[in-house]
Amino acid sequence: MALPFIVLLVLFAAAPEVVRCCTPSDLQALLAFKAGLKDPNFGVFSTWKGSECCSKWYGVSCDMSDGRVAGINLHGEAVDLDSSMLPRRVRFITGSISPAICRLDRLSTFILAYWRNISGPIPPCITSLSMLRIFDVVGNQLSGPIPGDIGRLSRLTVFSVADNQISDQIPRSLTNLASLMHLDLSNNRITGDIPEPLTGTIPPSIGYMERLADLDLSVNRVSGTIPNTLGKMRVLSSVYLDCNALSGAIPPTLLSSHGLNILNLSRNALEGTIPDVFIAQSYYTALDLSYNRLTGPVPKTLKLASYVGHLDLSNNNLCGQIPAGEPFDHLQSSSFANNHCLCGGRSEVPTLTPSISENTRRAKPSRLRRTTLDLTVRSRSDG
Ligand SMILES: *[C@@H]1O[C@H](CO)[C@@H](O)[C@H](O)[C@H]1NC(C)=O
Ligand SMILES: *[C@@H]1O[C@H](CO)[C@@H](O)[C@H](O)[C@H]1NC(C)=O
Repeated sequence: MALPFIVLLVLFAAAPEVVRCCTPSDLQALLAFKAGLKDPNFGVFSTWKGSECCSKWYGVSCDMSDGRVAGINLHGEAVDLDSSMLPRRVRFITGSISPAICRLDRLSTFILAYWRNISGPIPPCITSLSMLRIFDVVGNQLSGPIPGDIGRLSRLTVFSVADNQISDQIPRSLTNLASLMHLDLSNNRITGDIPEPLTGTIPPSIGYMERLADLDLSVNRVSGTIPNTLGKMRVLSSVYLDCNALSGAIPPTLLSSHGLNILNLSRNALEGTIPDVFIAQSYYTALDLSYNRLTGPVPKTLKLASYVGHLDLSNNNLCGQIPAGEPFDHLQSSSFANNHCLCGGRSEVPTLTPSISENTRRAKPSRLRRTTLDLTVRSRSDG
């Protein structure tokens, strides 16, 4: 008799109360953040008034159990400004990111992407946001360094500051980010070398980047050599280091890595021979080593690879015979153009297969590619 009643009571107690208002201190922090930004035409912040910041404010989400702000998600349009298909009105927000966001100490997602004109630094205090999982400020005018103690953000899965004017070196502490899956620093003014990633040989308690899948440092001023341990990172699948000032040899571990599908080392100052270490598990949708100072022959073991979609070894100092057989038979001669003394290989037969590079990668940093990536990572972390 009493049982259904109890069940009903429990059901009521468990039903989530609809939280409309955030706490007064979170409300003040949001208002201070809004005050730092100016959005003259489009009214992104027009709903940011009154007290119902959890239910009515555009882009704000809260933890329903206590009304603390958990997410700010303000995503502009990822259009290429040089493109001829420019929509009539492109949205610009001016101003800077107020350090007041650091008072939102339960914040887990902060997305302020593609507003083009937001300048000033990444507030260093964001490293105190211990719940932060996603930090995405792609496509603005942010300057100054990446906060030095970024390694404190142990839950961070996405750190994306591409297409800004971020300068200075990559902080060493970044290699402690054990949850990081997607790191995109491309198209900035980053200098110095690539910090040596710590790998599985040390106790995980110290923390190392064991989950990193996508690394994009392209179009910066990164110098020094490519760390050996990069190729030992177990889930790394795409590495873009193109358009930098890297020198020295390509580490063999990188090319023999099992999981790597996209490797772009184009337009650096890499020297030495291409390590002849490919294996049957090698599967490359794109392997671009063009515009370096590589010498020696085309590696014969590439024939072992289970797939090589797009290969670019052009504009180096390679020499010798291009091996026959797959994958060399389906590659265009432009893959080998402008080398020292390469010969053989397939002749200039036009191919009807569309160039894969158009799909996998850009001529310039492709904002659209990133949007897709962002969505994948987001849905992955939602699950
Ligand atoms: C961009 O910001 C600057 C000041 O930082 C301002 O003078 C300029 O008008 C802004 N441009 C647009 C398109 O909003
Ligand atoms: C590699 O990077 C270069 C320089 O940024 C770019 O031109 C090229 O298209 C990229 N290669 C591939 C296969 O995407």
